[in-house]
Order: sequence, then structure tokens, then C-alpha cells
Amino acid sequence: MIHCSVAELDEALMSPIPEVLEVVRNLQGPVVILGAGGKMGPSLAGLARRALDALGRSDPVIAVSRFREAGSRQWFHDRGIETIAADLFDPLAVAALPDTDTVLYLVGLKFGTSQNPAVTWAANTLIPAAIATRYCRSRIVALSTGNVYPLVSTSGPAASEDHPLTPIGEYPNAAVARERIFEWHSRSNDTPMVLVRLSYAVDLRYGILHDIARRVWLGQPVPLATGRFNCIWQGDANAMILRMIPHACHPPLVLNLTGPEALSVRDVALELGRLMHREPHFSGSESDTALLSDTRRCRDLLGDPTTTVDDMIRATADWVSQDRPSLGKPTHFEVRNGIY
Ligand SMILES: NC(=O)c1ccc[n+]([C@@H]2O[C@H](COP(=O)([O-])OP(=O)(O)OC[C@H]3O[C@@H](n4cnc5c(N)ncnc54)[C@H](OP(=O)(O)O)[C@@H]3O)[C@@H](O)[C@H]2O)c1
Repeated sequence: MIHCSVAELDEALMSPIPEVLEVVRNLQGPVVILGAGGKMGPSLAGLARRALDALGRSDPVIAVSRFREAGSRQWFHDRGIETIAADLFDPLAVAALPDTDTVLYLVGLKFGTSQNPAVTWAANTLIPAAIATRYCRSRIVALSTGNVYPLVSTSGPAASEDHPLTPIGEYPNAAVARERIFEWHSRSNDTPMVLVRLSYAVDLRYGILHDIARRVWLGQPVPLATGRFNCIWQGDANAMILRMIPHACHPPLVLNLTGPEALSVRDVALELGRLMHREPHFSGSESDTALLSDTRRCRDLLGDPTTTVDDMIRATADWVSQDRPSLGKPTHFEVRNGIY
């Protein structure tokens, strides 16, 4: 991933490993990806498409989103992925969605919550309820977030799936509600589901490593108060999301999904600085809590992510210092009060 172009990055994110092919081989009918127009949906849809193509299968991959960004639908069409432009707040649009055995749910709303908390709550509760009802006979792998946990001690155990869901802030609590609504539908209708508590997918165009690297590159201080974090290569996260499909069950299987290491913001910034020949500047100091997930359940089921932290850091340093594109969607990893 050093010196790669956007096209080569997409290629790397969409190349199916044998374990993905094995799962996709057993899927039947269309794969429907809801909320596909965001940061993860394109490469996840691309991975599913590539896997089906590699197996000689023409079952459609259908990306559903509002596609508010100009040109975003074309990206899918160019790769053989069908699209449906739909606002999932609209009951008629939900009713018209295609039947399928396999739903990947990526819809979410986080940023802008402090300006309009009502829409965050609505997006993260009403849409899950509508989708869980519409697809009560399907398998649903629904993305959640590590934000459902409160901050935990950086010297103590990370949050396992059994940790109380008592975060602060409206977005994290709306994310808890998103999970509980899926869970309730799963329990009520025996709908098989997986709830995926993802923390920090790393693409080179966005993500926590991208954010730290840009600050170092631009000479901006790197905030240290949230001094530790987990992250996972987006290609690994996408592969794991597809590999979770056969594990859907009722009540839902809940899995933390991220890298196993609790990385230090300071150490990562220093390493990025070394690679980019820039001296990092810091602000504040490390507090003794952070959002950290225990990923043993997921790793026991699916193994470790294959992309190393070292590889992600090197590729990010190269990407940012070569002035390659940014999505301009910062993670705001420094936020500690749940206000986004
Ligand atoms: N990326 C990460 O590192 C990360 C980390 C933790 C958790 N997650 C979770 O993983 C999921 C996917 O992540 P992401 O980064 O791809 O999220 P994202 O960039 O926010 O994408 C979600 C997409 O959902 C679509 N959407 C929102 N409201 C909709 C509506 N009313 N009707 C139809 N589509 C709607 C939007 O696309 P349109 O504008 O095209 O409609 C939006 O871009 C999110 O739910 C998030 O909670 C992601």
C-alpha cells in the first residue's frame, strides 16, 4: 500500500480472501447493503461483488442509500453493483426494498448531533425499527459502534461485549438504542442478527491514523487527552463483516470489531512524524481513560485481522505526505464527552 493510487487502494480493500469466498459461496440471492453511500459501504459492496464474480455468480449486490454526494452512484455502477436511491425514513421506500436473505446494515448518524440531536435519535432508532420489521425473515449484520461503551481505564481491562452500555452523550446513547431496537426485533421475531461494535476502521482517506497523520504533517498539535485507541484496517473489517453472516442468530450475536492493540496516540504520532520527517506537536496530556474494546470473542470466532499496525502507519504516512485525497470526514477521536 506504499505509493498506491486511489484505484489501487480500492483494489486492495475489495480483494476477497479465501475465507470471504467460502462465506459468499453459501449466500443465496441478492446481498442488500443499507447505508452504502458512506465511508465503508463502497468498499464493502465492492468486496461482496468481487467475491461473487470470483465464484462465477451473478447474484446482485444492491447498495441502498440516499446518494447525496454527486457521482457516488456511478462509482457503484462502474463496478457492477446495483443501486437504489432511497431515504429509509420513508415507509414506502422501505416497503419497496428488494427481498433478500442477507442484509448488511450500515446506516448511522453521528456528526452534527449537538446541532440537531432529534435527527440523530430518529435515524438511529426509527430506521432500525423499520428495517428490522421489513427484513424480519432475513439475516441482518448490523453495524454498531464501540461508542456504546463508557470510557474505561487505560490500565484496566478493555470493554468486552458484556460491559454495561452506559456511555455519556446523545450520539452514544442513540447508538445503544439502535442496538436495543435490533435486539428487541430479533428476540420478538426470531430474526438472526449480528450486532457489530466497530471501532475506528482505517482507510487511507479517513480514519484515526489519517487524522493524526494530517495533524503531524500540517504542524497542528495532536490532542493527547484520549491517549489510547484501537483500530482496524477497513479491508479486514469488511472481510470480517461478510464472514459474520453465517453467525447471525437470535438473540443477536454481539461482537466487538477492531484491532487487538491499545495503541498510544503519542507513540503513533511520533512514528508518523519519523516517517514523514516532521516533528509532532502535542496538546494536553493523556488521561487515564479511553474507549477501548476487548476483541477476544471476535478473534476466537474469525481470527486476527491480517493487516498489521505497522503496515497501516507506513501506508498512512506515505499517503498523507504525498498529499493524496482525504474524505474530509474527521473522526473527532479527541471527543471525550460524547458530544459530536
Ligand atoms: N467507519 C468507522 O470507522 C466506524 C466506526 C464505528 C462504527 N461505525 C459504524 O459503521 C456504520 C458504517 O460506517 P460508515 O463510516 O460507512 O458510516 P457513514 O459514513 O456515516 O455512512 C452511513 C451512511 O448511511 C446513509 N444514510 C444515513 N441516513 C440515511 C437515510 N435516512 N436513508 C438512507 N441512507 C441513509 C448515508 O449515506 P447517504 O447520504 O448516501 O444516504 C451515510 O453516509 C455506521 O453506522 C457507524 O455507526 C463505523
